Amino acid sequence: QPGETAMADTMIGIIGGSGLYQVDGLENARWQAVETPWGAPSDEILTGQLGGLPIAFLPRHGRGHVHSPSSVPYRANIDALKRLGVTDLVSISACGSFREEMAPGHFVIVDQFIDRTFAREKSFFGPGCVAHVSVAHPTCARLSAACAEAARAAGVTVHDGGTYLAMEGPQFSTLAESKMYREAWGADVIGMTGMPEAKLAREAELCYASVAMITDYDSWHPDHGEVDVTDIIRTLTGNADKGRALVRGLPARLGAPRAPCDHGCDRALEYAVLTGPEH
Ligand code: ADE
Repeated sequence: QPGETAMADTMIGIIGGSGLYQVDGLENARWQAVETPWGAPSDEILTGQLGGLPIAFLPRHGRGHVHSPSSVPYRANIDALKRLGVTDLVSISACGSFREEMAPGHFVIVDQFIDRTFAREKSFFGPGCVAHVSVAHPTCARLSAACAEAARAAGVTVHDGGTYLAMEGPQFSTLAESKMYREAWGADVIGMTGMPEAKLAREAELCYASVAMITDYDSWHPDHGEVDVTDIIRTLTGNADKGRALVRGLPARLGAPRAPCDHGCDRALEYAVLTGPEH
Protein backbone atom coordinates (compact mmCIF):
# COMPACT_ATOMS: atom_id res chain seq x y z
CA GLN A 1 0.00 0.00 0.00
CA PRO A 2 1.29 3.51 -0.76
CA GLY A 3 2.59 5.20 2.37
CA GLU A 4 3.03 1.94 4.26
CA THR A 5 6.52 1.07 5.41
CA ALA A 6 7.69 -2.53 5.42
CA MET A 7 8.03 -3.89 8.97
CA ALA A 8 11.03 -5.98 9.97
CA ASP A 9 10.19 -9.54 11.02
CA THR A 10 10.48 -10.37 14.70
CA MET A 11 13.95 -10.92 16.08
CA ILE A 12 14.03 -11.77 19.76
CA GLY A 13 16.73 -10.35 22.01
CA ILE A 14 17.39 -11.69 25.49
CA ILE A 15 19.56 -10.08 28.13
CA GLY A 16 20.23 -12.70 30.78
CA GLY A 17 20.97 -11.71 34.35
CA SER A 18 22.82 -13.39 37.20
CA GLY A 19 22.69 -17.17 36.72
CA LEU A 20 21.53 -16.97 33.10
CA TYR A 21 24.70 -16.99 30.99
CA GLN A 22 23.48 -18.99 27.97
CA VAL A 23 20.28 -20.33 26.39
CA ASP A 24 19.76 -23.75 24.82
CA GLY A 25 18.09 -25.26 21.77
CA LEU A 26 19.42 -22.73 19.22
CA GLU A 27 20.08 -23.81 15.63
CA ASN A 28 23.19 -22.40 13.91
CA ALA A 29 24.32 -21.08 17.27
CA ARG A 30 27.44 -18.95 17.34
CA TRP A 31 28.94 -16.39 19.68
CA GLN A 32 29.81 -13.22 17.79
CA ALA A 33 31.68 -10.07 18.74
CA VAL A 34 29.82 -6.83 17.99
CA GLU A 35 31.47 -3.40 18.17
CA THR A 36 29.52 -0.20 18.81
CA PRO A 37 30.33 3.53 19.06
CA TRP A 38 29.66 3.11 22.79
CA GLY A 39 32.36 0.46 23.15
CA ALA A 40 32.08 -3.30 23.48
CA PRO A 41 29.00 -4.96 24.99
CA SER A 42 29.24 -7.11 28.13
CA ASP A 43 30.30 -10.15 26.12
CA GLU A 44 30.01 -11.72 22.68
CA ILE A 45 26.40 -12.26 21.63
CA LEU A 46 24.99 -15.74 21.04
CA THR A 47 22.92 -15.72 17.84
CA GLY A 48 20.95 -18.44 16.10
CA GLN A 49 17.41 -19.57 15.34
CA LEU A 50 14.87 -20.67 17.92
CA GLY A 51 11.47 -22.03 16.91
CA GLY A 52 12.00 -20.58 13.43
CA LEU A 53 12.82 -17.05 14.63
CA PRO A 54 16.20 -15.33 14.81
CA ILE A 55 17.36 -14.73 18.37
CA ALA A 56 20.27 -12.95 20.04
CA PHE A 57 21.30 -13.62 23.63
CA LEU A 58 23.62 -11.45 25.71
CA PRO A 59 24.72 -12.31 29.27
CA ARG A 60 24.45 -8.93 31.06
CA HIS A 61 27.37 -9.55 33.40
CA GLY A 62 29.43 -11.48 30.82
CA ARG A 63 30.17 -15.19 30.96
CA GLY A 64 32.01 -15.67 34.26
CA HIS A 65 30.10 -12.70 35.79
CA VAL A 66 32.80 -10.08 35.31
CA HIS A 67 30.75 -6.84 35.13
CA SER A 68 29.33 -5.29 38.31
CA PRO A 69 25.91 -3.62 38.02
CA SER A 70 27.62 -0.20 37.83
CA SER A 71 30.14 -1.28 35.17
CA VAL A 72 27.74 -3.07 32.78
CA PRO A 73 28.09 -1.24 29.42
CA TYR A 74 24.34 -0.61 29.10
CA ARG A 75 24.51 1.60 25.99
CA ALA A 76 26.78 -0.79 24.09
CA ASN A 77 24.52 -3.72 25.03
CA ILE A 78 21.35 -2.11 23.69
CA ASP A 79 23.09 -0.72 20.60
CA ALA A 80 24.74 -4.07 19.75
CA LEU A 81 21.39 -5.90 19.95
CA LYS A 82 19.70 -3.21 17.83
CA ARG A 83 22.49 -3.48 15.21
CA LEU A 84 21.93 -7.24 14.99
CA GLY A 85 18.28 -6.54 14.13
CA VAL A 86 16.55 -7.25 17.45
CA THR A 87 12.96 -5.94 17.52
CA ASP A 88 11.70 -7.42 20.81
CA LEU A 89 13.97 -7.37 23.84
CA VAL A 90 13.33 -9.40 26.99
CA SER A 91 15.39 -8.51 30.02
CA ILE A 92 15.67 -11.23 32.65
CA SER A 93 17.18 -10.44 36.03
CA ALA A 94 17.52 -11.76 39.56
CA CYS A 95 15.62 -9.57 42.03
CA GLY A 96 14.68 -9.28 45.67
CA SER A 97 11.00 -9.13 46.66
CA PHE A 98 9.12 -6.63 48.83
CA ARG A 99 5.89 -8.67 48.83
CA GLU A 100 5.14 -11.78 50.84
CA GLU A 101 3.21 -13.29 47.91
CA MET A 102 6.05 -12.70 45.43
CA ALA A 103 8.12 -15.56 46.77
CA PRO A 104 11.59 -16.78 45.78
CA GLY A 105 11.24 -18.87 42.62
CA HIS A 106 8.34 -16.77 41.31
CA PHE A 107 8.60 -14.44 38.28
CA VAL A 108 7.25 -10.87 38.25
CA ILE A 109 6.46 -9.23 34.91
CA VAL A 110 7.64 -5.73 35.75
CA ASP A 111 5.67 -2.79 34.33
CA GLN A 112 7.05 0.20 36.26
CA PHE A 113 10.44 1.33 37.54
CA ILE A 114 11.79 3.72 40.14
CA ASP A 115 15.30 4.69 39.05
CA ARG A 116 17.63 5.26 41.99
CA THR A 117 20.84 4.60 40.03
CA PHE A 118 23.28 7.51 39.77
CA ALA A 119 26.65 6.31 38.44
CA ARG A 120 25.75 5.20 34.90
CA GLU A 121 25.44 6.67 31.42
CA LYS A 122 21.68 6.82 30.84
CA SER A 123 21.10 8.15 27.33
CA PHE A 124 22.24 7.84 23.73
CA PHE A 125 21.46 11.55 23.38
CA GLY A 126 23.30 14.57 24.74
CA PRO A 127 25.02 17.70 23.52
CA GLY A 128 24.58 17.96 19.73
CA CYS A 129 21.42 15.90 19.56
CA VAL A 130 18.87 16.40 22.30
CA ALA A 131 15.90 14.06 22.71
CA HIS A 132 13.41 13.39 25.50
CA VAL A 133 11.52 10.11 25.08
CA SER A 134 8.54 9.19 27.22
CA VAL A 135 9.08 6.36 29.67
CA ALA A 136 5.75 6.84 31.44
CA HIS A 137 4.97 3.25 30.43
CA PRO A 138 8.46 1.78 30.09
CA THR A 139 7.55 -1.76 29.07
CA CYS A 140 5.67 -3.21 26.08
CA ALA A 141 2.31 -4.74 27.06
CA ARG A 142 2.27 -7.20 24.13
CA LEU A 143 5.79 -8.53 24.77
CA SER A 144 5.16 -8.66 28.53
CA ALA A 145 2.01 -10.75 27.96
CA ALA A 146 3.98 -13.17 25.77
CA CYS A 147 6.58 -13.55 28.55
CA ALA A 148 3.90 -14.17 31.18
CA GLU A 149 2.21 -16.82 29.02
CA ALA A 150 5.48 -18.55 28.18
CA ALA A 151 6.54 -18.65 31.83
CA ARG A 152 3.14 -19.97 32.99
CA ALA A 153 3.24 -22.66 30.30
CA ALA A 154 6.61 -23.70 31.77
CA GLY A 155 4.98 -24.11 35.20
CA VAL A 156 6.32 -20.92 36.77
CA THR A 157 4.20 -18.87 39.22
CA VAL A 158 3.92 -15.48 37.51
CA HIS A 159 2.77 -12.11 38.88
CA ASP A 160 1.49 -9.71 36.22
CA GLY A 161 2.76 -6.21 36.89
CA GLY A 162 5.10 -4.86 39.51
CA THR A 163 7.27 -1.86 40.29
CA TYR A 164 11.03 -2.44 40.11
CA LEU A 165 13.27 -0.34 42.33
CA ALA A 166 16.61 -0.01 40.52
CA MET A 167 19.40 0.68 43.02
CA GLU A 168 23.06 1.45 42.33
CA GLY A 169 24.59 -1.24 44.57
CA PRO A 170 26.84 -3.15 44.76
CA GLN A 171 25.90 -3.39 48.45
CA PHE A 172 22.37 -4.51 49.28
CA SER A 173 19.94 -2.03 50.91
CA THR A 174 19.90 -1.05 54.55
CA LEU A 175 16.87 -2.14 56.56
CA ALA A 176 15.61 1.48 56.60
CA GLU A 177 15.89 1.69 52.79
CA SER A 178 14.24 -1.68 52.31
CA LYS A 179 11.27 -0.62 54.46
CA MET A 180 11.01 2.77 52.75
CA TYR A 181 11.02 1.29 49.23
CA ARG A 182 8.35 -1.21 50.25
CA GLU A 183 6.07 0.77 52.57
CA ALA A 184 6.36 4.39 51.43
CA TRP A 185 7.33 4.04 47.78
CA GLY A 186 5.23 1.00 46.88
CA ALA A 187 8.01 -0.90 45.12
CA ASP A 188 7.43 -4.64 44.60
CA VAL A 189 10.89 -5.89 43.57
CA ILE A 190 14.45 -4.62 43.79
CA GLY A 191 17.45 -5.12 41.55
CA MET A 192 20.61 -3.38 40.40
CA THR A 193 20.39 -3.51 36.60
CA GLY A 194 16.84 -2.67 35.38
CA MET A 195 17.88 0.93 34.83
CA PRO A 196 19.11 2.50 32.62
CA GLU A 197 18.50 -0.57 30.44
CA ALA A 198 14.75 0.08 30.12
CA LYS A 199 15.26 3.77 29.28
CA LEU A 200 17.88 2.96 26.64
CA ALA A 201 15.67 0.28 25.07
CA ARG A 202 12.94 2.91 24.66
CA GLU A 203 15.42 5.37 23.09
CA ALA A 204 16.42 2.57 20.70
CA GLU A 205 12.72 2.08 19.81
CA LEU A 206 12.74 -1.56 20.93
CA CYS A 207 9.76 -3.35 22.43
CA TYR A 208 11.03 -4.18 25.94
CA ALA A 209 9.79 -6.52 28.67
CA SER A 210 11.36 -7.04 32.07
CA VAL A 211 11.11 -10.36 33.90
CA ALA A 212 12.19 -10.36 37.56
CA MET A 213 13.19 -13.81 38.82
CA ILE A 214 12.76 -13.58 42.59
CA THR A 215 15.70 -14.88 44.60
CA ASP A 216 15.12 -13.40 48.11
CA TYR A 217 13.07 -11.11 50.37
CA ASP A 218 15.72 -8.38 50.62
CA SER A 219 16.09 -7.37 54.28
CA TRP A 220 12.59 -6.20 55.32
CA HIS A 221 11.06 -9.64 56.01
CA PRO A 222 11.03 -10.45 59.74
CA ASP A 223 11.26 -14.22 59.11
CA HIS A 224 14.03 -14.15 56.54
CA GLY A 225 16.82 -12.04 58.05
CA GLU A 226 19.12 -10.15 55.78
CA VAL A 227 19.86 -11.08 52.21
CA ASP A 228 23.23 -12.51 51.20
CA VAL A 229 24.71 -13.95 48.04
CA THR A 230 24.38 -17.54 49.28
CA ASP A 231 20.56 -17.18 49.45
CA ILE A 232 20.56 -15.75 45.98
CA ILE A 233 22.73 -18.48 44.46
CA ARG A 234 20.56 -21.19 46.07
CA THR A 235 17.48 -19.94 44.16
CA LEU A 236 19.34 -18.85 41.06
CA THR A 237 20.00 -22.22 39.47
CA GLY A 238 16.34 -23.26 39.52
CA ASN A 239 15.31 -19.81 38.31
CA ALA A 240 17.75 -19.95 35.40
CA ASP A 241 16.20 -23.25 34.19
CA LYS A 242 12.76 -21.59 34.33
CA GLY A 243 14.14 -18.53 32.53
CA ARG A 244 15.44 -20.75 29.71
CA ALA A 245 12.01 -22.44 29.49
CA LEU A 246 10.37 -19.01 29.18
CA VAL A 247 12.74 -18.17 26.30
CA ARG A 248 11.89 -21.43 24.48
CA GLY A 249 8.19 -20.51 24.65
CA LEU A 250 8.58 -17.04 23.12
CA PRO A 251 8.88 -17.70 19.35
CA ALA A 252 5.51 -19.48 19.10
CA ARG A 253 3.84 -16.64 20.99
CA LEU A 254 5.41 -13.77 19.06
CA GLY A 255 5.40 -15.11 15.48
CA ALA A 256 7.51 -13.79 12.60
CA PRO A 257 5.46 -10.99 11.00
CA ARG A 258 5.36 -7.81 13.04
CA ALA A 259 2.65 -5.19 12.97
CA PRO A 260 3.52 -1.70 14.25
CA CYS A 261 3.57 -1.91 18.07
CA ASP A 262 0.15 -0.94 19.53
CA HIS A 263 2.03 0.70 22.32
CA GLY A 264 4.27 2.82 20.01
CA CYS A 265 7.56 1.39 21.33
CA ASP A 266 8.93 1.20 17.77
CA ARG A 267 8.15 4.92 17.12
CA ALA A 268 9.33 6.38 20.45
CA LEU A 269 11.57 8.99 18.81
CA GLU A 270 8.90 10.36 16.47
CA TYR A 271 8.11 13.33 18.74
CA ALA A 272 11.16 13.19 21.01
CA VAL A 273 14.06 14.91 19.17
CA LEU A 274 14.39 18.66 19.87
CA THR A 275 17.59 19.40 17.94
CA GLY A 276 16.84 20.83 14.49
CA PRO A 277 17.70 18.87 11.32
CA GLU A 278 20.26 21.52 10.25
CA HIS A 279 22.44 20.66 13.26
N1 ADE B 1 19.28 -8.92 43.26
C1 ADE B 1 18.79 -10.03 43.83
N2 ADE B 1 18.32 -9.79 45.08
C2 ADE B 1 18.53 -8.46 45.29
C3 ADE B 1 18.26 -7.58 46.36
N3 ADE B 1 17.69 -8.01 47.48
N4 ADE B 1 18.60 -6.27 46.22
C4 ADE B 1 19.17 -5.83 45.08
N5 ADE B 1 19.46 -6.61 44.04
C5 ADE B 1 19.14 -7.91 44.13
